[in-house]
Amino acid sequence: DRRTAQEALDRLTVDVADWPEQGVTFKDITPVLADHHAFSAIITALAAAGRDDHGSVVVDKVVGMEARGFILAAPVALALGVGFVPIRKAGKLPRATHAVSYALEYGEATLEVHQDGIAPGERVLMVDDVLATGGTVDATRQLVEACGGIATGVAVLMELSFLDPRRLTGDLPVSTLLTI
Ligand code: PRP
Repeated sequence: DRRTAQEALDRLTVDVADWPEQGVTFKDITPVLADHHAFSAIITALAAAGRDDHGSVVVDKVVGMEARGFILAAPVALALGVGFVPIRKAGKLPRATHAVSYALEYGEATLEVHQDGIAPGERVLMVDDVLATGGTVDATRQLVEACGGIATGVAVLMELSFLDPRRLTGDLPVSTLLTI
């Protein structure tokens, strides 16, 4: 259940000081992924964001953001019985895309989705590992909407609340297993 997933995530995530740069503490989830029971529990917990109170699936697609989001979003899509769509960094997708650029702490990043990856009217759950500034989720929501899809919510393992991501996610429903 959700409690088991939260406990495993908390126990197995490793804080790496000063990585990738001085002053930043990186949340390394690779030990969580390497533990079958923990991995399975977090996928089930994330997938709950794509179901209603009766357990019925209420999304048509799951999107995951490169790269760590892929590891989580693909099994969530399988758990819900819906398709998976990758949100990729610039220049990786081979066919016609929508692109959105957004500000990073230093500089800018661009994310893309295939234009036909999401059909108009489809309900889309976004899945990623960490919600930090919210820039990635905000850009992904814009990509979903550019396809004509409906971004119904985002499910993440961890929310770094001290970076105030809700400033950018606004009224989008956020499901998070751990708040830091
Ligand atoms: C990290 C993380 C999220 C994003 C969150 O990805 O996996 O996608 O940053 O940050 P934000 O809320 O401030 O946008 P990163 O860009 O490090 O890419 P990676 O998964 O390829 O390592």
